[in-house]
Amino acid sequence: MNPLPRNLLPDNAAVADDGSLIIGGVSVADLAAEFGTPLFVYDEDHLRDRCRQAVAAFGHQSAVYATKAFLCRAMADLAYSEGMMLDVASGGELHVALSAGVPASACVLHGNNKSVFELEMAIDAGVHAIVVDSFDEIDRLERLGAQPGVTVPSVLLRITPGVSAHTHEFISTGQNDSKFGFNLENGDAARAVDRVRTSSVLNLIGVHCHIGSNVFDAASFAKAAQVMAEFSIPLDLPELVLGGGLGVPYVAGEEAPTISTWGSVLLDACEALGVRSRVSVEPGRAIAAAAAITVYTVGTVKDIPGVRRYVSVDGGMSDNPRPVLYGSGYEAALVRDPFADRSVAARVVGKHCESGDVLVADARLPEDLEVGDLLFTPVTGAYGHSMGSNYNKVVRPAVVFVRNGDARLVVRRETYDDLLATDVFEAGN
Ligand code: LLP
Repeated sequence: MNPLPRNLLPDNAAVADDGSLIIGGVSVADLAAEFGTPLFVYDEDHLRDRCRQAVAAFGHQSAVYATKAFLCRAMADLAYSEGMMLDVASGGELHVALSAGVPASACVLHGNNKSVFELEMAIDAGVHAIVVDSFDEIDRLERLGAQPGVTVPSVLLRITPGVSAHTHEFISTGQNDSKFGFNLENGDAARAVDRVRTSSVLNLIGVHCHIGSNVFDAASFAKAAQVMAEFSIPLDLPELVLGGGLGVPYVAGEEAPTISTWGSVLLDACEALGVRSRVSVEPGRAIAAAAAITVYTVGTVKDIPGVRRYVSVDGGMSDNPRPVLYGSGYEAALVRDPFADRSVAARVVGKHCESGDVLVADARLPEDLEVGDLLFTPVTGAYGHSMGSNYNKVVRPAVVFVRNGDARLVVRRETYDDLLATDVFEAGN
């Protein structure tokens, strides 16, 4: 009854002779014993495969990994070495990418409110492009570019195409009522193009849009492509960026287009519309989400007769805030028997001092679940670690990459001393 659907697990997940979960040839229970829980376990070949699919579909330089989904130096290096460029949305993301040895020329800087410091950082490093989001940013870049010896990287303009993606309101960005980009409908987009084209220091290479995240419906992308094609064709610019946003299945019954299908839909639409620019995309979730599981240890099981069963684990909203933020659904299963019947309804909750600290609101779990069991949630590779926090001074989990029977630690678990690393308290003051 209700076994975990196989398609939610990383590509290289399997079941060992003892019935327990293996990923990338490594026993997940052994990983938990070695690195502790909570633990993010990434199937490295799965990540590499999705990067390759993106590069195969869109071409070298046209497949840009949105690092906000999941970033550490190993991930930056992996995506770059598989032929992707990197979308960085802050100075911090740029810093991590550069620290991993990714050349600035492979990075594109995004953000609706980049500081002068971040713009200077991008200029000094020499990023491939800056995606400009507002008239204030155009002013800022013009002032920076007017200084002697300063060359501003090429710019793209972020356009709000007026297309609403069918996704959660908080992660939908293409509609008119948005903090992002230049509005197409009210003429701001055309005015921004004129401003940049007449600037003596800015070099416009293209336009950009991003309609939202976790979009399942290929028609929304095709619609955005059409609106952007109509706007950009007369401009005759070298680049057209159609953003990220491809969704992934999180729970039983969900289905999303593959990266290859997404590529065909977008590129066919652009070709049919007569786009001559190089078309690129910025997938984040579609690269990283399904590559990882999070492993937790069950600490308490509380039955409230007639109400529900609560299963508390040793992480929570600090390693996966998505259920709290967006009401996102997840599945849960046990490491010792991942495809067991899940006959019991339960709510999987974290250890934070907050009733809303829910990881899986309506989980199905095996009847024999007990305290001490290793429980995992699949499809947690995107926007989990990257949106994690230290709420309640809970330390952030470790991250391991597994491949061909080997595990490598890419982010160590934080220590209590890490919690004091930025704390400048001096006794007596
Ligand atoms: N490009 C731009 C300009 C973006 O703003 C984003 C995501 C992406 C690409 C990548 O989108 P993806 O392919 O990953 O859907 N925290 C939310 C998602 C926020 C996405 C923000 N921008 C979540 O957990 O669902």
